Amino acid sequence: MSKTVFNAEAEKDDILSTSPDEFLKGLERSDAFLPFPVETISVLPESRIVVHTEPRSAGADRFRLIQVRLRHLQAARKIKSLLITSPLPGDGKSTVSLNLATALSEQGKRSVLLLEADVYRPSLFKKLKLNSWPGLTECLDKHGDPMLSIRRIDPLGFYLLPAGTPTDAGNLLQSALPSQFVEGLAGTFRWILVDAPPTTPMAEILALKASCDGTLLVVRAGETPREAIEEAAKTLGMEHILGVILNGVQGIDRVYSKYYGYVKPHGQKG
Ligand SMILES: Nc1ncnc2c1ncn2[C@@H]1O[C@H](COP(=O)(O)OP(=O)(O)OP(=O)(O)O)[C@@H](O)[C@H]1O
Ligand SMILES: [Mg+2]
Repeated sequence: MSKTVFNAEAEKDDILSTSPDEFLKGLERSDAFLPFPVETISVLPESRIVVHTEPRSAGADRFRLIQVRLRHLQAARKIKSLLITSPLPGDGKSTVSLNLATALSEQGKRSVLLLEADVYRPSLFKKLKLNSWPGLTECLDKHGDPMLSIRRIDPLGFYLLPAGTPTDAGNLLQSALPSQFVEGLAGTFRWILVDAPPTTPMAEILALKASCDGTLLVVRAGETPREAIEEAAKTLGMEHILGVILNGVQGIDRVYSKYYGYVKPHGQKG
């Protein structure tokens, strides 16, 4: 397990007692607090980042489970960049991406980049209540350096490369550039989550898939039609799909409340 030398009070003595060589090796291993500008936000319940706002809820628990499974998978084989997509618009890709980025980063212990690749319908500035800054659209348009568009989002702990200005330029994601960006950024981050458009139009998703080690397919419980899920699986190829995330399962908190005494934010027993 890598040791964080920046943000763990408890490790202070440990750091002081290490030799300069060991300290530098520790720095190399550590991936906390990379030197990017920081945006500090208030995380409101409507953002649906339950991992942060309702950490004892069933939803948060499920994201932590996925996080653990992904880390096991990463320990077993090379897997770092994940495409997060869904058969249809509105299935919950961005909500899942935000929760997973938060869970994986564990308050900044691990460097996680959330790359918003849905340049047609970006939503992360709005969900996080952030003032906009140039992002992927501008980098693709002007061959800009994506590193200059990355900021750390506190208190969630992950890094964000936003889509930037929404565009309707249909072929923007079809070039080789998005893949090159992901490959270039892989040296800096431990995880790269790509919040992608839905699986149609196909050309975009296939171009993005080429740069990712696996896909998480988000489907909306009781809403995404079976045929659309089958079509998406065919487009992506079963071998690329690491898992399917069923978003919006009703009543799951009621089941969990029996075990964890989950208390809803407004104070009523769940
Ligand atoms: N589990 C859930 N329960 C209730 N509402 C949800 C849930 N997941 C997402 N939503 C809401 O559904 C809407 C769509 O979610 P989200 O933006 O995450 O989907 P998306 O797949 O990224 O959409 P798009 O295709 O437009 O990018 C948002 O208003 C979000 O707050
Ligand atoms: Mg989205």
